[in-house]
Amino acid sequence: MPEAALIDGKVFAEALRARVGAAAAAFAQWAGRRPGLAVVLVGEDPASQVYVGAKGKACEAAGIASFEHRLPADTSEAALLSLIERLNQDEAVDGILVQMPLPQGLDEQAIIAAINPDKDVDGFHVINAGRLSVGQAGFIPCTPLGCMMLLKDRLGDLSGLDAVVIGRSNIVGKPMAQLLVDANATVTIAHSRTKNLADIVRRADIVIAAVGRPEMIRADWIKPGATVIDVGINRLPPEPGKERGRLVGDVAFAEAREVAGAITPVPGGVGPMTIAVLLRNTLVAAHGHAGLPAPEGL
Ligand code: GUN
Repeated sequence: MPEAALIDGKVFAEALRARVGAAAAAFAQWAGRRPGLAVVLVGEDPASQVYVGAKGKACEAAGIASFEHRLPADTSEAALLSLIERLNQDEAVDGILVQMPLPQGLDEQAIIAAINPDKDVDGFHVINAGRLSVGQAGFIPCTPLGCMMLLKDRLGDLSGLDAVVIGRSNIVGKPMAQLLVDANATVTIAHSRTKNLADIVRRADIVIAAVGRPEMIRADWIKPGATVIDVGINRLPPEPGKERGRLVGDVAFAEAREVAGAITPVPGGVGPMTIAVLLRNTLVAAHGHAGLPAPEGL
């Protein structure tokens, strides 16, 4: 059996960013302003600082205005809610993203609930989760939507395929399962209490790994020819003499590549898609905000 094809999220994401950039320029011409994304970071979590910095840069490169709000870790819930209310009212802001996780003491659900659902480009608001679940247009969380784009690009029609989603988070697992059902796949959601996980994964034509456990999914769990999408980003302990450990996914990549039909690498697979989809969602939000139909081909 030949080695699996690599699903190159970096190349796909670059192309998506270019399409968003062209559409953002057309929007700016029409509206007399750029689409705008407000990103709120509370506290100093190092990984979150990196993500927020990357989001700001990606916005500017795509012709989207980025409004960053960095608040101290001891920010009160009232102060954060009042900032969100200001951003809800701000005509220059089409999308609002509050970087998660929030510091202890801030109620994430209460903060998400305060965001205008039509500016909720993360797709985390219960209104958007509900819209997805009943098949109405709304914002879909960026990571699962990015996975879906990669899957459709690779496989075309997913009708009748068996898909297993490992992980049941609100951000990835649950919306991912919904998207797969909507694409006519037969979906199993597996999680930490699932019995015989390896046997369940072995039946799947599509495997979505979103558990956050380094290299947990082994080659002998994978059906020959399956399409494997690895959402995990885990840092291994450093090898002797190294300062930082390697980044690995939830799938044992090198061995899984011998069995799968196609697989995303880590890094360079799903990761680059998340920000590209965020830009896409922001552009869609700007169109909605301006009373324009959603842009096509994004
Ligand atoms: N933290 C990790 N991923 C995400 C994301 O997609 N959006 C937000 N807001 N926070 C995150």
